[in-house]
Amino acid sequence: MSDNALSRRDVMKYGVLASAALAVPLERVVRAKTASDPIAVSKFPKPFTVPFTVPPVAVPTKRSSTTDYYTVSMHSATTEILPGLQTETWSYDGTFGGPTIRATRGRPAVVRQLNNLPKVHPRLGYEAWTSVHLHGSGSLPQYDGYASDIIRPGEYKDYHYPNDQDARTLWYHDHGVHHTAENAYMGLAAMYTLHDELEQSLPIPQGRYDVPLIIRDAMFDRNGQLLYDDEGHSDLFGDMILVNGRPWPVMEVERRKYRFRILNAAVSRGFRFALSTGDPFVFIGTDGGLMQRPQSATSYRHGMAERYEVIIDFAKYPIGQRVVLRNLGVDNVVDFDLTGNVMAFDVVGEPTDLSGNTIPDELNPNAPAMDLTEAMAKRTRTFEFNRTNSQWTVNGKTWADVVASDYEYVWADPGLGDVEIWEFVNSSGGWWHPVHVHLVDFKVLDRNGRAPSAWEIGSKDTVYLAENETMRVAIRFGPHTGRYMIHCHNLVHEDHDMMAQFRVGPPSDEHHPIFADPAKPQPGPVLGGDDDTV
Ligand code: C2O
Ligand code: CU
Repeated sequence: MSDNALSRRDVMKYGVLASAALAVPLERVVRAKTASDPIAVSKFPKPFTVPFTVPPVAVPTKRSSTTDYYTVSMHSATTEILPGLQTETWSYDGTFGGPTIRATRGRPAVVRQLNNLPKVHPRLGYEAWTSVHLHGSGSLPQYDGYASDIIRPGEYKDYHYPNDQDARTLWYHDHGVHHTAENAYMGLAAMYTLHDELEQSLPIPQGRYDVPLIIRDAMFDRNGQLLYDDEGHSDLFGDMILVNGRPWPVMEVERRKYRFRILNAAVSRGFRFALSTGDPFVFIGTDGGLMQRPQSATSYRHGMAERYEVIIDFAKYPIGQRVVLRNLGVDNVVDFDLTGNVMAFDVVGEPTDLSGNTIPDELNPNAPAMDLTEAMAKRTRTFEFNRTNSQWTVNGKTWADVVASDYEYVWADPGLGDVEIWEFVNSSGGWWHPVHVHLVDFKVLDRNGRAPSAWEIGSKDTVYLAENETMRVAIRFGPHTGRYMIHCHNLVHEDHDMMAQFRVGPPSDEHHPIFADPAKPQPGPVLGGDDDTV
C-alpha cells in the first residue's frame, strides 16, 4: 500500500504502531487500534471510572399563560473530558450534552437561539453558521432548522415549537448547511423531552428513574482538542465513547427498574447495544413516543438520531454487581480498542422509591402512525441512497440541486393528509444510511420484504437503512404544508450532500423555510415581551 492510499488517520494509526508492530504479534496490533493522537490516548480515563451525570434541565426565561420562553446561547466553552485537559466544545449554553428542555403537551415553546460562536472554527476555518432543528417535532417549515436557513455569528433566531404531539423523546441539534457534522461533533446536540397526561399516568419509571443517555464517539489531537477527520467525506469514527459528555461513565443504580432514553448522537457510528449479563432490554418507546406494547430483545441496532426508550430492571442483581452496557458493533463501522464499552451500572442499594416500577402490557394503543396500512396509501415513491461520483446522493441528486433551484426543487409533493408508501433503497454493501424524514412520524412496513425488528414496532422518524436493503414505510403527511428535508443522518453524508426535500401541498411561499422568518442581528427585542406574564 502506498502512503497515498492511506487516510490521515491510517497514517497516524500505522505510523504510531509501526515500531511496536515489529515486536508484537499481529493480533495485538489489531486490538491496539486507536484514532486519537497517542498523547491524547495516554490520557484517556479507564472505562467506568468517571462518574455518570445527567445533563442540566433548561429553565424558561419566562412563562406566560400559554407559552414557555427559553433563551439559549450557542457558544464556545471548555470541558474537561480527558482528565486534566481542557477541550474546546461548542454547545447550547456551554454545557456539553445539554441543557435538556422539558416540555408539556399543549404548551408551545419559543426558544431564542443566539449564535455567539467564534466567527470561524479555530482549526477547520469555516464560518460558524448554525441552524437549529428540533428533531421529532412537527414544526412549521421556517422553524424546522432548514439547513440553508442559517444563523450567522452575531445573529439570533426565535424558534416556535408547537408541542402538540404525543409524549416523546426529541433532540435539538445543529443543521447548518455543509457544517452540521462539525458543529454537532463540537457539541451542538441536546435533549428535549415532551410529556403528556397518558405518559405521566403510566406506572413506568419517572423523575430520577427516567434517565437520558446521549451516546456518541469522539477523538482527540495531542492538545486534547476534538479531532475532526471524516476521511475524505466518508465517515467519522472516534475511539472514545461519551455518554452525556463523559467518557465511559459509571452510574450507581438501585435494585429496581430504570427507564433510559437512549439517543445515538454520533456523526457516523452505529451501535449494537447489549448488556454484559445477557439480559434483555424492554423497549417502551421509539422516536415518536410510547409504543403500543412493550417489546424486548437482548441486543439491538441503534443508528444515528434514532431514540429508543428502554427499561432495564436491576432488581434481579445483587448489591455489588456491575452491569456493563456494551457495543457489539455493526457492519461498515470502524471499531477501536475501547469502543466495545459504553458505560457501566453499579448496583449499590435497595430502592429508595418503588413508584413507577411496572411495565404495563399496554402503553400507547393510539399512536397515530401505527394505524397506517398499505391499503390507505395513495402511491409509492422510491428514494435511492447512493454514492455517485464521490457525492452522496438521493435519486442521483443532492442539496446543491435544491440551492440551484432557489429552494423550489422537490423529490416528492404529497398532498396534505395523504398517506403514501416511501421505499428507501440502498443497493450498496459498503455502507448504510439512517434515513430521516422531517415533519412526520411513520410506520415501518418491511425490510427486504421481512417484518421490522421488535424494537422498531413503534412510530419512527429515522430508520436504519442497512446494506443491500430496500425498506418501506407508511407516512401520513401533515399537519403542516410547505417544504421539509429528508436526508441521511450520517452527518458526513448529509453535508456532502445526501439531503433532499419534499413539499406538502401545492407550491406556496406562505411558510417559506428561509424567507418567512429569517435570523436577525442581536440583541433583538425582549423575548415574549407582548405576552402577559403569569
Ligand atoms: Cu436530526 Cu434533519 O435531522
Ligand atoms: Cu448516509
